[in-house]
Amino acid sequence: MFKIFLLLLMTALSAAQTARPFDRDHDCPAQTIGGKVHECRCEPNIIECHGRGITTFPHFARTGYVFQSIDLDTNGLTTIPALAFNDINVTDIILSNNEIDTIDDRAFVSLERQLRFLDLRQNNLTHLPDFFDKFVNLSIFDVSYNPIAPENFTENVMRELGDYVTEFRFGDPSLTGWPTNLHHLPRLEILKFYGGTMERIPITAFSGFEWPLRKLWIQNTNLISTPIALQDLKSINEFHFDNNPSVGDAGILIPAFAGLSGTLETLSLENNSLTTFPSVLLTLHNIHNLSLARNNLQFVSDEAVAVVNSNLTILNLQACNLDRIPGALSRLRHLEYLDFSYNNITSIEKNDLQLMHNLRTLIVSYNPLQYISNSTFYDLTSLRRLILQETGLFSVPEAIVKLPNLQTIDLRDKESDIECNCDLGWLYCFTKRSTGLNILGDCYTIVMTIQDYAENQIPKTCPIIC
Ligand SMILES: *[C@@H]1O[C@H](CO)[C@@H](O)[C@H](O)[C@H]1NC(C)=O
Ligand SMILES: *[C@@H]1O[C@H](CO)[C@@H](O)[C@H](O)[C@H]1NC(C)=O
Ligand SMILES: *[C@@H]1O[C@H](CO)[C@@H](O)[C@H](O)[C@H]1NC(C)=O
Ligand SMILES: *[C@@H]1O[C@H](CO)[C@@H](O)[C@H](O)[C@H]1NC(C)=O
Ligand SMILES: *[C@@H]1O[C@H](CO)[C@@H](O)[C@H](O)[C@H]1NC(C)=O
Ligand SMILES: *[C@@H]1O[C@H](CO)[C@@H](O)[C@H](O)[C@H]1NC(C)=O
Ligand SMILES: *[C@@H]1O[C@H](CO)[C@@H](O)[C@H](O)[C@H]1NC(C)=O
Ligand SMILES: *[C@@H]1O[C@H](CO)[C@@H](O)[C@H](O)[C@H]1NC(C)=O
Ligand SMILES: *[C@@H]1O[C@H](CO)[C@@H](O)[C@H](O)[C@H]1NC(C)=O
Repeated sequence: MFKIFLLLLMTALSAAQTARPFDRDHDCPAQTIGGKVHECRCEPNIIECHGRGITTFPHFARTGYVFQSIDLDTNGLTTIPALAFNDINVTDIILSNNEIDTIDDRAFVSLERQLRFLDLRQNNLTHLPDFFDKFVNLSIFDVSYNPIAPENFTENVMRELGDYVTEFRFGDPSLTGWPTNLHHLPRLEILKFYGGTMERIPITAFSGFEWPLRKLWIQNTNLISTPIALQDLKSINEFHFDNNPSVGDAGILIPAFAGLSGTLETLSLENNSLTTFPSVLLTLHNIHNLSLARNNLQFVSDEAVAVVNSNLTILNLQACNLDRIPGALSRLRHLEYLDFSYNNITSIEKNDLQLMHNLRTLIVSYNPLQYISNSTFYDLTSLRRLILQETGLFSVPEAIVKLPNLQTIDLRDKESDIECNCDLGWLYCFTKRSTGLNILGDCYTIVMTIQDYAENQIPKTCPIIC
């Protein structure tokens, strides 16, 4: 809420600073590269030069117009020359996905006091150059996926930026240790650590920002367990611990979460080689959004679900190698959003999904569904959205007539379509009762959407009494 307000405020402020309205023909400063006109495109907030094959830094013409950002993502830049940004006025610079290994000391000189977001993700930097310490307004700083050695997160840069940086992103498959200079970022609220070769991170990894840190990402690592350092974090409400395949069930350490039981609300533990719901969930009373996607759960027992000691409302079980809808989930009475995409579920049986009176969204997309019982869904009295994309179903599941609040059923499928014939007479009657029902997907037998067929074709061609 506060963030949205801030954004609106910032937008309002920058609009106020812009003395005149955007003039598409004259305010776009991107003109030439080596005499050739290039293809940056301007919108009122952005100079967009994304994926244009640019290998030499563009020459910009001075227009005096104030943009928010310049986007040079996915080009072939290797060097940022002196005075590169001298003729444009932005606060956000996006240079991700280039091959930058050299940045001139005076590259950012005109913007160094106003730069708020600098994105250098996926480049070839080996250290943070000393002059980065001049960015005295930098709030979001991304140097992830650069081959920067732990000691090359330069101390004076980190110390100077510490007064301003609230979000820092780093980590690379080549990173061999935790950069201790992170301690110099006492205002850090969001930390995204995208990997390294180490099996452990120091117990003091987060010292310096234990209080302000609210959101933490630790992904793509060789860690063998959840870091004990977590226990120092006082305010953390989101923790994304994903793609750490060496962790396993035994690596989700209960003591690591000891300090988090009151604050943690969102937890993702995707692709960590888990086989069951981790018992640490017993201690996390405020979790309402949980993802265990891409773990090999295979099935979910009553004992597994019994460790959930919170009122979960969102559960993501994508790609967990499930071959049926786990009945044990009926214990989670507060669930509002349940995602079973990318499993191997072949049927929805009569007594699946019992007691889920609060469920509003059910997703079973990308499963080889062959059968949905006509008698299922009877407890799903709040269901708004039923998403069944790419399931190979040939018929519209008749059980949806049991869903008094259904707003959307999504049956879109690239490979196979729904058989549309007079057997769908019930759907015509259902759409008449459920005004505003949105049916997505196409007929197989006739070039028409299912919705169009049910609402317009059936009454013309089928003998129907509702
Ligand atoms: C960018 O525009 C703002 C608002 O007009 C102004 O205060 C600032 O000095 C300008 N920065 C540069 C580098 O021109
Ligand atoms: C620094 O950033 C804040 C917003 O984050 C902005 O209000 C302020 O004007 C910026 N300072 C300069 C010198 O641009
Ligand atoms: C940047 O790094 C990539 C991957 O490590 C490498 O293939 C590429 O040659 C490097 N580019 C330069 C200009 O050094
Ligand atoms: C660290 O940065 C320095 C330049 O400051 C560079 O010469 C050195 O190669 C870098 N170290 C590693 C291990 O990349
Ligand atoms: C799991 O994470 C590993 C390591 O980051 C990655 O190589 C693998 O592709 C991921 N697997 C899935 C299914 O996402
Ligand atoms: C729940 O968490 C996932 C990450 O696991 C996030 O992508 C999603 O937006 C969250 N949902 C809500 C409603 O906060
Ligand atoms: C879950 O919600 C119920 C009532 O809706 C409440 O009594 C209970 O304390 C909640 N449990 C937790 C762990 O928050
Ligand atoms: C999916 O289930 C079918 C039988 O129900 C089985 O033959 C197949 O091996 C399963 N696929 C996977 C990827 O587990
Ligand atoms: C149940 O569904 C099948 C098709 O899936 C349909 O042929 C049959 O008439 C339905 N039965 C009842 C009682 O609605």
